[in-house]
Amino acid sequence: MCGIIGYIGSRDALPVLLTGLENLDYRGYDSAGVALDNGTVDVYKREGKLENLLGIVPESSDAFCGIGHTRWSTHGPPSDANAHPHTDCTGRIAVVHNGIIENHEALKSELSGHTFTSETDTEVIPHLLEEQLDAGKQPRDAVAAVVEQLEGSYAFVVTMAGSDAVFVAREDSPLVIGRGEDGFYLASDVTAFLEYTREVSFLEDGDVVVLRSRDVAIYRNGAVIDPAFTAIEWEAEAAEKGGYEHYMRKEIHEQPHALRQTISGRLDADSGDVELDIDVPEEYARSLEEVQFVACGTSYYAAEYAARLVEELADIRATVTIASEYEFSGGRDPWRTLTVAVTQSGETADTLSAIRTAGEAGARTLAVTNTLGSTVTREVDDSVFIRAGPEIGVAATKTFASQVATLAMVAVALGRQRGTLSGRRAETLLENLRSVPGAIQQVLDDEELVAATACEYADSDAYFFIGRSLGYPVALEGALKLKEISYDHAEGFASGELKHGPLALVTESTPVLAVLTEGSRPEKTLNNVKEVQARDAPVIGASSMDDEAFVDELFAVPSAGLFEPLVANVYWQLFAYHVADLQGRSIDKPRNLAKSVTVE
Ligand code: AGP
Repeated sequence: MCGIIGYIGSRDALPVLLTGLENLDYRGYDSAGVALDNGTVDVYKREGKLENLLGIVPESSDAFCGIGHTRWSTHGPPSDANAHPHTDCTGRIAVVHNGIIENHEALKSELSGHTFTSETDTEVIPHLLEEQLDAGKQPRDAVAAVVEQLEGSYAFVVTMAGSDAVFVAREDSPLVIGRGEDGFYLASDVTAFLEYTREVSFLEDGDVVVLRSRDVAIYRNGAVIDPAFTAIEWEAEAAEKGGYEHYMRKEIHEQPHALRQTISGRLDADSGDVELDIDVPEEYARSLEEVQFVACGTSYYAAEYAARLVEELADIRATVTIASEYEFSGGRDPWRTLTVAVTQSGETADTLSAIRTAGEAGARTLAVTNTLGSTVTREVDDSVFIRAGPEIGVAATKTFASQVATLAMVAVALGRQRGTLSGRRAETLLENLRSVPGAIQQVLDDEELVAATACEYADSDAYFFIGRSLGYPVALEGALKLKEISYDHAEGFASGELKHGPLALVTESTPVLAVLTEGSRPEKTLNNVKEVQARDAPVIGASSMDDEAFVDELFAVPSAGLFEPLVANVYWQLFAYHVADLQGRSIDKPRNLAKSVTVE
């Protein structure tokens, strides 16, 4: 999982590439590099963060064409040699690549006369191109011929000395073109070039593209097509930190706004109906036998929340499977199974693989994603966008809230279509949903209390999160957030499970964070709170209950019906943030993690 940027036009390419890499480095930060083409190809690359590359590039260049890359290692450890771009033996071809070339070893063995300088799968591409050019092919035909030889998933971009063009190919890995007044941009994510243009065109699998400074040609299904460009509404500033020290904290604070966008224009609280712009006929909804959710990480926990709502509101069996463990098993008529891929990025390889499996088995498929034009949207029958805006912090925050809100609307829509959810109950739920942005704002206004509590407990041995029903996925998500950014041991449990084993871990140095809200059976969890307090563990309760006499620290959750656990989750996000901040962790880019995981 890496970030790609390319440019060709009338500007100095170097600052465009460096800005793009800065914007993209959340996609990987093991190394960074650029190749500048001004008749000859000059490559600069360094292991580590972008600052290392900035130390070796010239202040400006006379190249109007170039490519750049920020890497998250899959083949070969982080090193200068393994950093992209990679070149052929002559140094006239440079390539950056995202994805995995599965047959690279077989290809490499056929390139016996070539000198390889890295351990990457990527390096076969420039050498294969070299072979094609030496055999007399024109550059575009050489790229097309190499694509025929590759197996796996890839987005790769090539610059060839003297060609006055950038060549691009995509298969199972995202790429987007930007059209500016001063040339064409190309990236794995629009965030890379929003400073320069918001006119974009998303590429499709199988595309081979030639970008020149004044025109672009897409070779798709044997024909040359003119790309259709659409305007992206995100401002470049939205992808910047906006005054916060970390993207994560900014994104936590963006949740009220993000949620308003998520639900905007979609709720009719008077009638209890929702409008999600998907075409699921009522007859089909009524005939449904099962809703299957597939997802990873935080998205998986959002799906766990959603499955409980679907079962309760739409009276359908709902299952949740970690995407990498998914195997289709539907009823006698697979079409009566709706498989829902929940993925912020829309690019998570495990989730894509699962949704493909479901689609191939005959299930109807739905994507719930934040990313327009992402791969998942091309794989499914329908897509619903969560509209959370760009999320840069590796730790998912606002997208979890917007996922749960979107999935709740899906549950309400199904319940209404199936006649299992009365108008009156739906009205109440939608009113509750509308109240969530305000409730979360109240939690955010309580941040000082959370920061002080984090300060008090930041030296703990471990942290245990507990909750029941809708509070259980929030306990799991709270623990994930804390562990991924603080590197401390944190675990989430169903409250009732503590006494079946984990209670042995509980001591006075292991705070227990409990969800005690509507929708999480707080009266029962209070029994488990007593159990841990009897073992001297301090208890932090995120609670909307009246009776918290025996909670050591109380975080008050405003009333929001079944969405109270979602609101409580914001306390856990802030707690995790402040514990990690006190420890000086790399909050936006935790060690070993990346924002989108595009390998299985
Ligand atoms: C959560 O903080 C993580 N970044 C991670 O678990 C993430 O939710 C997971 O990789 C799934 O990503 P997706 O939503 O883009 O598919």
